[in-house]
Amino acid sequence: MIGRLNHVAIAVPDLAAAARQYEAVLGAQVRAPQDEPDHGVRVVFIDLPNTKVELLTPLGEGSPIAGFLEKNPSGGIHHLCFEVEDILAARDRLLAEGARVLGPAEPKIGAHGKPVLFLHPKDFNGTLIELEQV
Ligand code: CO
Repeated sequence: MIGRLNHVAIAVPDLAAAARQYEAVLGAQVRAPQDEPDHGVRVVFIDLPNTKVELLTPLGEGSPIAGFLEKNPSGGIHHLCFEVEDILAARDRLLAEGARVLGPAEPKIGAHGKPVLFLHPKDFNGTLIELEQV
């Protein structure tokens, strides 16, 4: 069911510093920052030949990654995003298998303008998983 690894998301305390590091030190193609008010984050995408890295920092009050950064003040891997062809079919299969979908279990529009869902990290070995329909 899952396809390509679309991105690895890393929560960072200082988005500009992290983006600069990927560009200057690691020599990566870094895109411009993008605000995602619906998700409470500001993101920078980094294009790699086989996948992307998504740097995330809190945006506004009550950001879902604020607690993560409190526990991991220097940042850390926040989630993995896998591609699926049909997000509603994927959701129904996961629910039937007993996995928990976060929130109201209806896809939201994610950072790429495509529908996304998040799965409970406790059901997947402590890893928050995002599914994105491509
Ligand atoms: Co993501």
